Amino acid sequence: MTDSVSPGGATPRIPPLTPVLTANWDQPDSFTMAGYKRTGGYQALPKALAMQPDDVIATVKGAVLRGRGGAGFPTGMKWSFIPQGDGKPHYLTVNADESEPGTCKDIPLMMANPHVLLEGIVITCYAIRAGHAFIYVRGEVLHVIRRLQLAVAEAYEAGYLGKDILGTGFDLDVVVHAGAGAYICGEETALLTSLEGYRGLPRNRPPFPAVEGLYACPTVINNVESISSVPSILNEGSEWFAGLGTEKSKGYGIFSLSGHVKNPGQYEAPLGITLRELIDLAGGMLRPGHPLKFWTPGGSSTPILTHEHLDVPLDFEGVGAAGSMLGTRALQLFDDTTCALRAALRWTEFYQHESCGKCTPCREGSYWLVRTIQRLEDGTGTEEDLDKILDIGPNIIGRAFCALGDAAPVPIMSVIKYFRDEIMQHRKDGGCPFDPAASTAWAVS
Ligand SMILES: Cc1cc2nc3c(=O)[nH]c(=O)nc-3n(C[C@H](O)[C@H](O)[C@H](O)COP(=O)(O)O)c2cc1C
Ligand code: SF4
Repeated sequence: MTDSVSPGGATPRIPPLTPVLTANWDQPDSFTMAGYKRTGGYQALPKALAMQPDDVIATVKGAVLRGRGGAGFPTGMKWSFIPQGDGKPHYLTVNADESEPGTCKDIPLMMANPHVLLEGIVITCYAIRAGHAFIYVRGEVLHVIRRLQLAVAEAYEAGYLGKDILGTGFDLDVVVHAGAGAYICGEETALLTSLEGYRGLPRNRPPFPAVEGLYACPTVINNVESISSVPSILNEGSEWFAGLGTEKSKGYGIFSLSGHVKNPGQYEAPLGITLRELIDLAGGMLRPGHPLKFWTPGGSSTPILTHEHLDVPLDFEGVGAAGSMLGTRALQLFDDTTCALRAALRWTEFYQHESCGKCTPCREGSYWLVRTIQRLEDGTGTEEDLDKILDIGPNIIGRAFCALGDAAPVPIMSVIKYFRDEIMQHRKDGGCPFDPAASTAWAVS
């Protein structure tokens, strides 16, 4: 532990990392069929296909795998909502849109190991009796799209996709679909609308996608990491998975560290690890003498936390109790050179830009939030502006059509909670008291 992490705090216990999805990322051919099979790939699939589909669902339920896309909904339970014997086509759509600021786990996962996702897709489709799966991938990541396409072609060639998979009579086609770079298309119903060829706008629920999803047919939507975790559960058993993590947040997950930390990157660990432990594993804070000031536990949509929360267990319950959300485990770290208000401004500008405009609270509210925060950052804002933000924010949350609107006021409201005096210092100083160059100077002093 370097003293630059935070003053004080508990003695860290460094748990072992649990590399499962990331185990072979250092292999030069990890993204190929040969590389995946050499390291144990495609062993879960025959096991799953030898089981009854409902038993596969029961196994994933027993593991208590909770969705890795942010909300943490139990994956096996989601699959069990798909009606059976309804005579309709069923679909799986994998949410690979990954556009939340700070979130950066699915793209490296698909880049390094697209076959673990494909193996998970085949198992999932078998369980929910789906004959078609779509991977909705963020359009900007061309290199990842090419790797996915190559992996899909290899899987067809090897008989893991297509007709009569492994001689079981089960048929499955997989389509890799590139989105056009809109954050809202990661919202599950907007994703479906976009996949159908329309402008990506969220839909009303009910009906839920499990009843009327893609092309008005029963559809499961799961995150890349959720589906990629399925082969390990089939291979090692649900008890093994449920034995990792904490009481209600089972298993392992990828924690993405970025910002002012020595070795940013992906750290795969049991849920419940703390940020203090992760920072230690990442070699400490970036610059000696510059302690952690604030951080996001799960991307920009999750309220910021501070150095007081270094020992909070990073599971759904622990982070919730600390006043935030686990989200996508996108840990963005900011040291004491960073203006928290400016960070909130940047995040709010993102939400304003990405608001699809369908509903007034989000469309207009995010616009006014940006203008008001900008005034505060420029040093011309007042205490009344802070109160106005605290009035606008709760009027967006819960009144917007989808969770993007709910997220828009989160960064500034949480920055006001912890850094109100610092915000008002901008007015006293006639501008931002922080030097932006100091915060973005990446060289270790
Ligand atoms: C604006 C917005 C963007 C989202 N982007 C993503 C995304 O890129 N990937 C993702 O898996 N979930 C995203 N979600 C959450 C999805 O709506 C959905 O909850 C998730 O894909 C379900 O998968 P899971 O149960 O496996 O976590 C987003 C939600 C919102 C409101
Ligand atoms: S909350 Fe925002 S992003 Fe969601 S539907 Fe309304 S305007 Fe669109």
